[in-house]
Amino acid sequence: MTQRIEAVGSVALKDGRHANIRPLQEEDREALTAFGLSLPKNDLLYLEDDLTHPEIIARLANAAKAENWRQLIAITDDGQIIGYAAALRMPGWSNHVADIRLIVSPGYRRSGLGMHLAQAIVEAARELGATKVSVDMLAAQTAGQAIFSRLGFAVEGQLARHAIDRDGKLQDIVIMSAFVRV
Ligand SMILES: CC(C)(COP(=O)(O)OP(=O)(O)OC[C@H]1O[C@@H](n2cnc3c(N)ncnc32)[C@H](O)[C@@H]1OP(=O)(O)O)[C@@H](O)C(=O)NCCC(=O)NCCS
Repeated sequence: MTQRIEAVGSVALKDGRHANIRPLQEEDREALTAFGLSLPKNDLLYLEDDLTHPEIIARLANAAKAENWRQLIAITDDGQIIGYAAALRMPGWSNHVADIRLIVSPGYRRSGLGMHLAQAIVEAARELGATKVSVDMLAAQTAGQAIFSRLGFAVEGQLARHAIDRDGKLQDIVIMSAFVRV
């Protein structure tokens, strides 16, 4: 039941700062709430999970030890969460596939943190037993597409008007995936 990745450890960012990457724990609930509330409206608009909602935060924190989930956070030395990544093994006939989520605080973007977290969560998905990793995002999330493309993910498809953002607008979804070495 425990997460096998003990800690990814400290990572150096391109701008000279550093961050600590480690599994999410139940005790991180308050810091995760603060992270959600710190995200700009534009991000919140496009996130599949509403990270400002206490029930969603509770669900994520409670799943810290779930068998089929790995959740990683990037955290500063003073305990501020600045990034979150998750890999969730899918049920049924896609049981070999892990669904990936990734988000970095705007103040830490383009410093390499997203890449560190993305690599760590793909590795965590592999440790979960997944042989394929998949990420869905709105077509408007171009930074997400850029980073996953750089990591070797390919676009598998686009679903037209498949999501409704928090402003009630219909949005296309892009599905990207990669096969993971066993
Ligand atoms: C996607 C996201 C996690 C990237 O985080 P990040 O910390 O800025 O990523 P990195 O600094 O590691 O960037 C790695 C590479 O990705 C690409 N990239 C990242 N952001 C980009 C952008 N806005 N435009 C173009 N390329 C971008 C670049 O190739 C970049 O390398 P470079 O800076 O050397 O050119 C961040 O923008 C984010 O949280 N976005 C909102 C949520 C989201 O879209 N998540 C993805 C879907 S789940």
